[in-house]
Amino acid sequence: MLEQIKNRRSIRKYLEKPVDDDKIIQLLESARLAPSGSNTQPWHFIIVKSEEIRQKLVEVSNNQKWMLSAPVFIVCVADIRSRITDNIEISLNENSPQLELKQIIRDTSIAIEHIVLEANNLGLGACWVAWFIQEEIRPILNIPSDKFVVCILTLGYASESPKDRPRKKIEEIIHRESW
Ligand SMILES: Cc1cc2nc3c(=O)[nH]c(=O)nc-3n(C[C@H](O)[C@H](O)[C@H](O)COP(=O)(O)O)c2cc1C
Repeated sequence: MLEQIKNRRSIRKYLEKPVDDDKIIQLLESARLAPSGSNTQPWHFIIVKSEEIRQKLVEVSNNQKWMLSAPVFIVCVADIRSRITDNIEISLNENSPQLELKQIIRDTSIAIEHIVLEANNLGLGACWVAWFIQEEIRPILNIPSDKFVVCILTLGYASESPKDRPRKKIEEIIHRESW
């Protein structure tokens, strides 16, 4: 497992080669099995292959044009209704204060990284993209306002082998017994 974690990179250049659906489903299976607080499983995933829709998603992602070379986007969405089931109206954005929003983002992020690691395991490349705002991304995919888009994962076969990016030293992040 640590070898897989060590050799994973964010991939921003992809081959034109398509990704088989059974591989995409295998990735989402790894997400389905992720842990979540109280087993609430707040995650949903929208598979996007259409060039037209990918183009719109690129535009709201600060026009990061490299994204388009990925043949598949997986839009990863957290649903607050897994925690708030009252029939109250909820409209989420980057400034929403709800504790439940933090919890669903936390849980969905675990599932997303399962996908990234399983992609690496299957010889696929991926990159998290979270540089967008809810108000702009949601309408493109008809996502209701009580859902929160955590990221777009770009997915495909890598056509680059990036060097490892720096990380903090282990001593900088470990505390023993207390802060
Ligand atoms: C929450 C999140 C958001 C990110 N958003 C972007 C993004 O919008 N564009 C991009 O090129 N990379 C994005 N990245 C990738 C990071 O830049 C990358 O993970 C980091 O530089 C470390 O490089 P590595 O993944 O190759 O180890 C994002 C990563 C995370 C976890």
